[in-house]
Amino acid sequence: MVTVTSAPPGEDGVIVGSEPTVTGRYLRRHGLEVITIAGSGPAAGPRAISSRVNVARTVAGVLLRDLPDRWAHTIGVARTADRVAGTVHPAQRELLLVAAWLHDIGYSRAVEETGFHPLDGAAYLRRHGWPMRVCALVAHHSGARFVARAHNLEHALDRYPCERSAVSDALTYADQTTGPQGQPMTVDQRMAEMLARRGPDSVQARVHHRREPHVRGVAMRVGERLSRSGGQPE
Ligand SMILES: [Fe+2]
Repeated sequence: MVTVTSAPPGEDGVIVGSEPTVTGRYLRRHGLEVITIAGSGPAAGPRAISSRVNVARTVAGVLLRDLPDRWAHTIGVARTADRVAGTVHPAQRELLLVAAWLHDIGYSRAVEETGFHPLDGAAYLRRHGWPMRVCALVAHHSGARFVARAHNLEHALDRYPCERSAVSDALTYADQTTGPQGQPMTVDQRMAEMLARRGPDSVQARVHHRREPHVRGVAMRVGERLSRSGGQPE
């Protein structure tokens, strides 16, 4: 097992499993101290979180360390994704949580290229060897394609397959029910907050009439899946 002794702000030590292809490369690149512990046992961590999820959390924590609100939001999105993980196939839950931790890394100054955070985050992840499906979920989260069109970045976003699945729905739902400081919100509250924060002349406001039905459709589908799985929407 490998443990990271330098953790993201507000987090205890992060335990990472033996995933040399992603773990070692990432943690060393970001200057995190890595200690090899013989055997397993208690080093398995406070929860049975997969090593990939822990790597994603660590990478996001490092990249967003100078953006405390964005990091708080990310923690909230990951928490909500975990809460609604029962709406996706068990084999896809790890993917959902990985994407939830990574979905907003495009806001990091170390990642920013075009200024359109879903695309920048996806391109960064692709350059660093993350699976295409993770990159694509980040690229298209929360109806990014509607905003990309207004930025003339639609073709760049098209490099990433846009999946419509329970996983993509759960990711968008988690993002659209978590406020900018990580507080739980309804979709209505989140949209009103977003429009007020971005302003009436923003690209987001201009495409809202197209993006809103998409987000509401996602929320409806997730709500239905939650009802079937015994969970409750917020
Ligand atoms: Fe977000």
